[in-house]
Amino acid sequence: MQRKDVTFASGLMSPIHRWFRLTPSFGPELVRTMLTALSAQKSDLILDPFAGASTTLIEAKLMGYNSIGFEINPFLHFVGETSLNWRCDPNVVSKDLERISREFLQCKRTISHAALEATGVYVPPIYNPTRWWRPDVLLELLLLKRTISELVTDETVTKLFRLALAGALVPELTNVTLGRLQLHFIDRSHDHIDVLGTFQRRVTEIVEDLRLVQLSKARSEARLFQQDSTSLNGFKPSQPISVVVTSPPYPNRYSYVWNTRPHLYFFDFFATAKEASQLDVLTIGGTWGTATSMLAKGTVAPTCPAVDDLISPIAAAIRQTGDVLMANYLMRYFNLLGQQLLSLKPHLSTDARLAYVVGCSRLKGVYVETDVLLGALAEKLGMGLKISRIERIRKRNSGADLHESIVYLERG
Ligand SMILES: C[S@@+](CC[C@H](N)C(=O)[O-])C[C@H]1O[C@@H](n2cnc3c(N)ncnc32)[C@H](O)[C@@H]1O
Repeated sequence: MQRKDVTFASGLMSPIHRWFRLTPSFGPELVRTMLTALSAQKSDLILDPFAGASTTLIEAKLMGYNSIGFEINPFLHFVGETSLNWRCDPNVVSKDLERISREFLQCKRTISHAALEATGVYVPPIYNPTRWWRPDVLLELLLLKRTISELVTDETVTKLFRLALAGALVPELTNVTLGRLQLHFIDRSHDHIDVLGTFQRRVTEIVEDLRLVQLSKARSEARLFQQDSTSLNGFKPSQPISVVVTSPPYPNRYSYVWNTRPHLYFFDFFATAKEASQLDVLTIGGTWGTATSMLAKGTVAPTCPAVDDLISPIAAAIRQTGDVLMANYLMRYFNLLGQQLLSLKPHLSTDARLAYVVGCSRLKGVYVETDVLLGALAEKLGMGLKISRIERIRKRNSGADLHESIVYLERG
C-alpha cells in the first residue's frame, strides 16, 4: 500500500472525504482494504467507534454498506453528520452560494465588529483570537458566518455551508500550518488571503460531489452518534455489529480537542476553555489543560487484570525515568482501550471481525509496541476475541523504528 493511501492525503482527492481535512484521518483506500480483508458483506453492520472525520462511514456508504459510528468531539460529530447527508439539492446550494456571495460583497466594505455583534455574531471566545486569524480575515469570516445564517433557511443546506467554512478555516484562512502532531502559528501579515474565493471553491466541491453521489443507485444507512465509545450504556444497535473498522488515538498525546479548538469556538460549540479542557479529560490520548494536571500526580491503576499484566511493567519502566505524567498517561490509554473493547461485548455478532489501525510509540525512551499490546489485550479480555493477523503498514515519520499497523481480530 502506498503512503498516500494510508493517510488523510488520499481523502483530499476523493469525493465527500475532501470536504474536511483531519490530519490524523486514514485514507478511504485503507478502509476499502480493511473491509475486503474482513470479508465484509452487504448484510453486515459496520462500526467505527472512533469516527474522527467519518472516513469509515463515508466510504462504507459509498460502497453500499450500513454503518454506525461514535465520535466524542462535538465538532467532529458535526463534520461527520453533515458529510453523511447527501440528500440536499445541489442546485439549491449553488443558488444560495450566489446570494451569499452577493450579500457578502455588498457588506464587506462597511462591516464592523459592532455591527456583527448587534446581530449576535461575536469574535470566537478563543484565547488571543488574532493569533489564529488576521484581524481583516477574522472580520470577513464572521461576516460569512452571519450571511449564511441570515440568508439560508434550510437547516441541511446551512450545515453544508458551515462545513465549507470549517474546511477553509484551518489551514487556508488561519495563521497556522498543520504540523505532524500540532498546529504551528506563522506570520501571514503579507499573504494574499481570499476568504470569499476559498469558501466558494469549497462549496463548489461540495456541489460537484453531491451531484456525483446522487447519480449512484447504492442505498445504505450511516448513523453517527456523539458518544463516548468507552461506555455504551443504553446503546442498542439495530442488529449485532459484525465488522469494526477503526483507528483509535495513538499513544502520542495528540489532542483532538486542541487541534479542533478554532472550529469548536468559531462555530459556538464551546464558549469557555473549561469546556474544552473537560472534553480533553474524556478523550483517549488527550492530555491538555486539566487532563495533564490530573495525570501528573499519583498513580493511575489498571482497571482490569489484562491491562495490569500487559501494561504495568511498561508503565513502571516509564515511572523509573521520573516521568509520572507519561506513566499515568500510558496506563490510562490502555485502560480506556480495554474499556472500549469490553463495551462492545454485548453488541458484537458471534462471527464479528475487527480491524484496529494503531501506531507504536516511544515514551521517555520506553518502547510501546501498541499493535502487539492491543492484540494481546483483546485476547485477554474474555470476549472470545483472537488475533487473526497483525500487518505493519508503514513506518511512522516520528521515528525509524516506529510503525503503524492493522491489528485484525476475530470472534469465535
Ligand atoms: C485517529 S482519530 C480517528 C480518525 C478517523 N479514522 C478518520 O479517518 O477521520 C481518533 C478519534 O477518536 C476520537 N475519540 C477519542 N476518544 C474517544 C472516545 N472516548 N469516544 C469516542 N471517540 C473518541 C477523537 O476525537 C478522534 O476524532
